[in-house]
This record gives sequence, structure tokens and C-alpha cells, in this order.
Amino acid sequence: MARIKIDTARRLGTIDRNIYGGFIEHLGRCIYGGIYEEGSPLSDEHGFRKDVMEAVKGLHHPILRWPGGNFVSGYRWTDGIGPVEQRPARLELAWHSVENNHFGTDEFMRYCEVMNIEPYICVNMGTGTMDEARDWVEYCNGTGDTYWANLRRQNGHPEPYNVKYWGLGNEMYGQWQIGHLSAEDYVKKAREFAKVMKWTDPSIKLVGCGQNGWNDWDQTVIDGLAPLMDYYSLHLYTGSDDYYSNVLAPALVDFALETCQATIERARFNQKIDHPIHIAYDEWNVWFRQRSAESALEERYDLADALAVSSYLNSFVRHSDTVKMANLAQMVNVIAPIFTSKEGLFLQTIYHPLRIYAEQMQEVALDAYVDCKQLTLTQDQERSRWPQSIASLGPFNVLDVSVTSDQEGHELAIAVVNRDQEEDHSTTIQFADPISISQGRLYQVNATDPNTSNSFEQPDAVTVQERQLELANGALTYTFPAHSLTVLRLH
Ligand code: AHR
Repeated sequence: MARIKIDTARRLGTIDRNIYGGFIEHLGRCIYGGIYEEGSPLSDEHGFRKDVMEAVKGLHHPILRWPGGNFVSGYRWTDGIGPVEQRPARLELAWHSVENNHFGTDEFMRYCEVMNIEPYICVNMGTGTMDEARDWVEYCNGTGDTYWANLRRQNGHPEPYNVKYWGLGNEMYGQWQIGHLSAEDYVKKAREFAKVMKWTDPSIKLVGCGQNGWNDWDQTVIDGLAPLMDYYSLHLYTGSDDYYSNVLAPALVDFALETCQATIERARFNQKIDHPIHIAYDEWNVWFRQRSAESALEERYDLADALAVSSYLNSFVRHSDTVKMANLAQMVNVIAPIFTSKEGLFLQTIYHPLRIYAEQMQEVALDAYVDCKQLTLTQDQERSRWPQSIASLGPFNVLDVSVTSDQEGHELAIAVVNRDQEEDHSTTIQFADPISISQGRLYQVNATDPNTSNSFEQPDAVTVQERQLELANGALTYTFPAHSLTVLRLH
């Protein structure tokens, strides 16, 4: 019998809802043919797909990163403003396509406004200049009688957009990135970008460009940029055809967050920095099948992937004191929970945990004690399309758990991923102190086979089962089925 013991006094931190953030990039059918489809009977007067907007609402993204991704490192943001018919079509080198620039800054802002989402812009540190970056801040946030603020007004937006979050480049460490840099060169360049952007609007929050959290790049960039940044970004993609390599891989998130936060705290201590530097996991997901530009990254997800996504979310909850933003990459069609055609859409398997966590998990993360079967994965067994290895991080709890409560400790939400491919696990849930819980509701994502996927033909092959729970004497025993996510909501 497994055991989860909960003490509502053992608080890990307050969850920042920005961990449920999203990301859209000018890539394949994410924007064009995804959220934005001009002339489609499914679109509104702005060209926004209404069915997609409905589905996006269910993800409850509080924040949306844009415009890339690799795309941003060749993006001239000024191409995307003003009368649409006058905007230039450009050869786009990150994904080898043509960018027509019909969706630009004002369209992005309108989308955020309509969806009540906070915008987060990543600037071009590949081909882009300091001037372009500061001009972009001025265009979005300027209030004075200045050229860029006036141009925004002329384009129909008298009020500033007040974009608070700004990223200092995307994956500048990678050979694949236009204008890629060494860590030392990135620090030099990013310091100057940071300076002029903050001087343009001192209220903005800057996100430094991190790698995976455990790399030499991270050490150098954190040391070099600590005084100027408010967030440090991490990216992580995992995934495998091998069930255990796939569902256990998010253990890397715990490792990255702990390693990276230690590096941040070391820099803050040595440099006597008062302001906090939080982690923004501003790209994360399962992604291993559709890796080429030709595939447009149209990954189709199965139940095992949904379990991995659930474990990512568990890690964010468990590290809610350090990770204050996370952006699922991406939102529609491109490695995404929502998949469209010209006629409609279906929700991929990974949509369901994203929705359940955003809707059911509470404000405060608790430090739960978990006693259960252990899983091991050897280097020989591990299979991954990504270079990083997780085998050395084991053994792993078969039940991956995160627990949250409301501020008063009256309402609880317990998320349990049973990663066992074959066995159910009967589990007692105990409380350190007597707690008055009389009602429960259960949300579960499961299917007979972890390879089950949704599709236009079978949109509900993997969906959410929801029901009331009977509780006796404030104690609870529940059998978590093999390869499932269960969220128990108790009050
Ligand atoms: O999200 C897909 C791509 O993955 C992004 O463009 C890039 O930042 C990362 O390598």
C-alpha cells in the first residue's frame, strides 16, 4: 500500500499562476492557420479563429510569449505594423518559410486584450539591434510625444500597451540560432540591450536567456546578467517512444530548477543583489516525433505524453518558490494541445492535464511525503531523441505527486501521476493534523493503452473523467490506475 502524507503547515511556496503560461511563434500553422486565419468562416472580424479562442480559454493562460522562438532572431518587428497591405513579405530563415507580416505587434496585443492574457515579448538579439529593441519598448509602452509612441497612436492605439515582460533573445547559445553567441559575448550584448530597454521604460521586467539550467552557459550568463535581470529563462523538451523514458524524463525539471536556483542564489550572494531573480521556464513540452522544419512540428500526442506533461506541472508546483513563469511550447498546431483544420479542431491528450491543473490546483504548494514503489531506469534502457540523460537521476517514485491548498488550508488539490505502465497502486492519503474534509471530486485522465491519441475521427479517445468521491472519517484510500493522472479536489 502506498502512502501520501500531507501536512498543511509545510508550505513550499505560493504558486504564481504565470506557470500556466503559453507561447506562440511564427512557425508552421501556429499563428497563420492556428489562432489567426483571415477570411475563414470560423474567424471573427479580426481574423482570430473563434473555435480556437474557445479552446484556448480552457487552458487559462495568464501570459503569452511571442513572437519566437527561433523566429525572433531574424524578425524585424517594424515590418509587422501599419496598414496590412503595405507590410513586406520576407524570406524567413529560422524555419525556411515566407513571413507575410499580417500578424504583428498590434494584432498580438489585440489578441491578448480579447483573451485577457498578459503579453510577453522576446526581442531579436540575433540580427536585431539595441535600437530596434528599445524602439519596440517605446512603441508598446511610450507615453510621451515621441516618434514610436506617436506611431502606435497613428496605428490606432492611443493608450500604451504596458508590456511588462521582455525577453533578452531566444536560445542565443545554439548553433541553430541566427546570430548565435558565446556566453561571454551574449552577456556583453545583453547588458547593453537591458540598459537601453530599462532606460526606455524602467517598469519592465527583463528575462535573461538561459539554456537548460545545468550548463556552463547558465553559470556565465547568470553571473554576468544577475544585476540586470528579473527572470532567467530555461527551455526543456523531452520525449521518447519508450514509455518509461518518456514519463520519467520530467525529473529533469526538478534537477534543472534546483541546480539553476542554486547558481542564481550564489550570484545574488556574491554580488550583493537584493532583488529576486526567478526562473521562467519559457519553453517546455514533450517533443520528439516531428523535429524537422518540413514537419512544421505537428506533433500528435498520446496518453503517455499527457502523463509526462502532468509531471512537468507537478515539478513546477513543487518548485513554486523558484519558478514564477512557465510557457508551454506551443499553443496551437505546433507541438501543441490544440490541433486545427480549416473546418474545426480537436483537443490533443496533453490539453486535459493543462486544463485540470489550471482549474483545480490551489494557491499554496505543500511538501507532501510520498512512500511508494520505486522505478529505476538504466543508461542502457533509456531511449531519447534528446541528448540529456535521466537515468542517473533515479530511482524515481512510481507515483509522481504534487499537493496544493488554499491560503487557509481548507481546500486541497492532490495531483498524482501513476507512472506504472502495468499496475494500479492502492494508496492511503493521510493528514498530519485532523482536518475536516467531507467532500471530494475526482478528475482523471486515462485510457486502456498509453499509446492512445485523439484525432479528428476520435476526439475523445483520451479525455477527462470526473466524479464525486465518498470520504469516510477524513481519511482516504484510493487506487490510482496504471498510467493515469488523477487530481483529487478535497474540501
Ligand atoms: O518551440 C520550437 C522551437 O524550440 C523554438 O523556436 C526554439 O526556441 C526551440 O528550439
